[in-house]
Amino acid sequence: MVILMNEKQFSKDLVAWYQQNQRDLPWRHSKNPYHIWISEIMLQQTQVQTVIPYYQNFLEHFPTYQNLADATLEEIYKCWEGLGYYSRARNLKSAAMQIVDRGSFPNSYETLLELKGVGAYTAAAIASIAFENPVGVVDGNVLRILTRVYLLDDNIALEKTKKKLQLICNRLIMSEQPSMFNQGLMDLGATICKPRQPLCDKCPIVKHCLSYKHQKQNILPVNIKNIKHQEQHFITCIISFQNQYFLFKSEEGLLAHLYGLPQFDVESPHAFEEAFKKTYQEEIEIYDYLKDFKHVFTHRTWKMHVYLARFLEPPKLPLYTIEQIQDLPISTCHKKILNTL
Ligand code: ADE
Repeated sequence: MVILMNEKQFSKDLVAWYQQNQRDLPWRHSKNPYHIWISEIMLQQTQVQTVIPYYQNFLEHFPTYQNLADATLEEIYKCWEGLGYYSRARNLKSAAMQIVDRGSFPNSYETLLELKGVGAYTAAAIASIAFENPVGVVDGNVLRILTRVYLLDDNIALEKTKKKLQLICNRLIMSEQPSMFNQGLMDLGATICKPRQPLCDKCPIVKHCLSYKHQKQNILPVNIKNIKHQEQHFITCIISFQNQYFLFKSEEGLLAHLYGLPQFDVESPHAFEEAFKKTYQEEIEIYDYLKDFKHVFTHRTWKMHVYLARFLEPPKLPLYTIEQIQDLPISTCHKKILNTL
């Protein structure tokens, strides 16, 4: 189990920040589990700003779960029009009927999970916001925050990483008010700990953040989707030293006799740094993520997760200026990447 920092203080600092800075959203004026449930279902696939008017209108039409259970699907669809993913509206009616049958609104994480259309995230959100159950809300935003805080380069596309971070989140939430803790994470992910260019100078928990300490926040989280048949994933690096770039000439493979960027079939930036050292006996540091590129060859597709790196010392390897690169024969897949420089 990873315990790398003062977790109690982390949770306290997050909640104190949320109390001062929370976004004023209509569902935050209610503790009624029915209201929270409706808001969370609407927020499953839809942006906060889009949801606001729908949430208010929906509750005017169906003020209680009994009203919703009695409504026709046409009436419910009418209030859902424009929100998309209509299975959510259908599931709401089924779940409202389940609640009427059981006689009261479920009031725990486990019983909420039994409702149609309610998965782990939504059950955790309702259980914590309406009933103060200490279950963390773990979605992409929270995976990003926690991998950064703990400096974890585990691939967040993998189920085992999600499980590991759910346990960490459940441990963090124990020492604080679950409702404010979870909503603090949601607001931190939406406004400060953004995927690109996080606002670390405004972050209330920066002093706990190991990736900030090591300046790795821009290269986390690692998010590499499952490798499919005929699809190869690489981490590819543009490695520089004083405005010159490292390219190497391939002797074999798809890029034989062409110059290209170094890339390895590895699962994290750290693993790339290790593989590079082993291959070239030079130390590099990956310091930023550029973006993902895709290149389709006749029989396979390369997905390249491109990062920026630098040599720590003047390397004993060939380096090229941008002008020199224009004159080299370079593989098309890497030329697309170099064109962004
Ligand atoms: N996204 C999902 N649930 C949310 C909530 N309760 N508040 C803000 N954003 C959310």
